[in-house]
Amino acid sequence: MKNSVILSGNANPELVKETAKKCGARLGKVHIEKFPDLETYARIDEPVAGKKVFIVQPTCTPANEHLVELLLIADATRRAGARKIIAVVPYYGYARQDRKVKEGEPVSAQLFAGLLRKAGVNEFIAMDLHSRAVETFLKPKAHLHALPVIAGYFKSKKIRDLVVVAPDKGALKNVKMQAKALGAKIAAISKKRISGSQVVAEKIEGDIKGKNCVIIDDIISTAGTMCEAVRMLKSNGAANVYVAATHGVLAGKAIERLKAAPVKEAIITNTIPQAEHKKALKKLRVLSVAPVLAEAIKKMA
Ligand code: R5P
Repeated sequence: MKNSVILSGNANPELVKETAKKCGARLGKVHIEKFPDLETYARIDEPVAGKKVFIVQPTCTPANEHLVELLLIADATRRAGARKIIAVVPYYGYARQDRKVKEGEPVSAQLFAGLLRKAGVNEFIAMDLHSRAVETFLKPKAHLHALPVIAGYFKSKKIRDLVVVAPDKGALKNVKMQAKALGAKIAAISKKRISGSQVVAEKIEGDIKGKNCVIIDDIISTAGTMCEAVRMLKSNGAANVYVAATHGVLAGKAIERLKAAPVKEAIITNTIPQAEHKKALKKLRVLSVAPVLAEAIKKMA
């Protein structure tokens, strides 16, 4: 890491500190403040000329703020003469706006990937991107997965009769990989989305009666998908039900919903800060992806 620098905005300081420590690197100084009119001001107080710079910043809630910070830090870094700029984006906000569904819509995930490149980002390191489309927008040099972290947790629990469940079609690929890693069977639910926060689980395929189930998805946002899947599994005779995802967005009524649902434990990672969610939801278990990020950064440094 001799010729590399790690910088960050305000999105996830704990994760960045842990990642930098695991890289054996010091965190570079970045000054961010708000002007009276609420514009963001950013300045890097770190010599970066001729260096490889890793800017670690998930564009999580508030996505617009964190995205602007990332853009400004990248622009400042480029103007200061960095040799290469790598945006390490453990959670890529706007990823679910990855296609035009209705006439008149933008493709936000593509727009922001382009803007980040324009600001000076040469490469991306990302984690469990929402879709193939987002992958083609970012073209990450390293597309990391939280799968080994989550699988490691479930292995350590030594749960008998474990079935890994996909809460919708999109999750099936990841679920198959997890089931393989855990030596477990799979089941799949088909869901219909009614609105941004409401879904209905329609059908379940696979044997879950009397089994311990872990439902795996990339994102838990309003927890509508997960809680519907839990309800369906329970009403079909599942034993304990766990929910797990890489990105714990936990927006809207997510905490209330997970609290009320018959969920044994909700497992997520720290791609997004979880301190407040953890206080509000006792059955939330947060696993760290810092070792996975640090490994990728060290390889590219
Ligand atoms: C959708 O395709 C995603 O993979 C997740 O299933 C979705 O974002 C979860 O959203 P929510 O928690 O609001 O149901």
